[in-house]
Amino acid sequence: METNTAICCRGLAIGYPAAGHGFGAVPVLDGVDLDVSQGGFLTILGPSGCGKSTLLRVVADLLAPLGGEITVLGGPPHAARVRRDIGFVFQDPTLLPWRSVRANIELPLQVGRGRAARPDGLATDDLLVLLGLSELAERMPDQLSGGQRQRVAIARALLSRPRILLMDEPFGALDEITRDRLNDELLALWRRTGSTVVFVTHSIAEAVYLGQQVLVLAAHPGRVLEIVDLRPLKDAVGRCDRDAPEITAVAAHLRRLLAMGSPA
Ligand SMILES: Nc1ncnc2c1ncn2[C@@H]1O[C@H](COP(=O)(O)OP(=O)(O)O)[C@@H](O)[C@H]1O
Ligand SMILES: [Mg+2]
Repeated sequence: METNTAICCRGLAIGYPAAGHGFGAVPVLDGVDLDVSQGGFLTILGPSGCGKSTLLRVVADLLAPLGGEITVLGGPPHAARVRRDIGFVFQDPTLLPWRSVRANIELPLQVGRGRAARPDGLATDDLLVLLGLSELAERMPDQLSGGQRQRVAIARALLSRPRILLMDEPFGALDEITRDRLNDELLALWRRTGSTVVFVTHSIAEAVYLGQQVLVLAAHPGRVLEIVDLRPLKDAVGRCDRDAPEITAVAAHLRRLLAMGSPA
């Protein structure tokens, strides 16, 4: 196996155990083959209910696979989780309303045994600067905009300096201007930190703008339709221009694929 692989799946079947027993579960997604290299940026597109969040849960070791193989940073997902190599950002920022921005970012330091500060973790003040939150450190969540709350959630996920950042529709509830700005901030952060990002979105434009690879999933049966490699294109176009004809052509291709994978 390549040593620079962040996530590798072979014939992966994922889903939920049938009620009562572990037997008879029908996979949500089956036959998933996927390679994401370290420092890569994978975006995931697919109809509602096709298993995007479930796939992230399996990578994060929050759910065991039903079959097939998955390695995360060269070993089982569990080992990566124990090393705190995985950060997770959910669609709903899940901030504790009674804690300040700073205290919400530091939450993982206080929750659960074995989750103490990591020696090479990031200092809260550095995270506040990185996410443009320095002025807001003592504010409470209800004094923040949606975009600011999502920045706090990202800062919190970065606290342990995770090598893999999983983001499940993190900007889905934001207005388009805020979303565009956070997309640019996320790309800058990704380039600076060199971490691997896996990012679920409903937006084709966002998937193309952010991704080095786009994983397109279908439902019924849940499967991989295509993995579109944007690296050659982005190397050629340079910094991704949202309106470059090459980019809009990829977006049109993805739209056709998605229409195919979600029959009405
Ligand atoms: N905790 C759970 N137990 C059983 N089934 C679930 C659970 N969570 C999600 N599912 C089912 O798994 C499928 C995929 O869900 P999910 O991964 O959330 O889809 P997506 O994120 O692509 O919208 C759906 O059919 C959903 O109903
Ligand atoms: Mg989901």
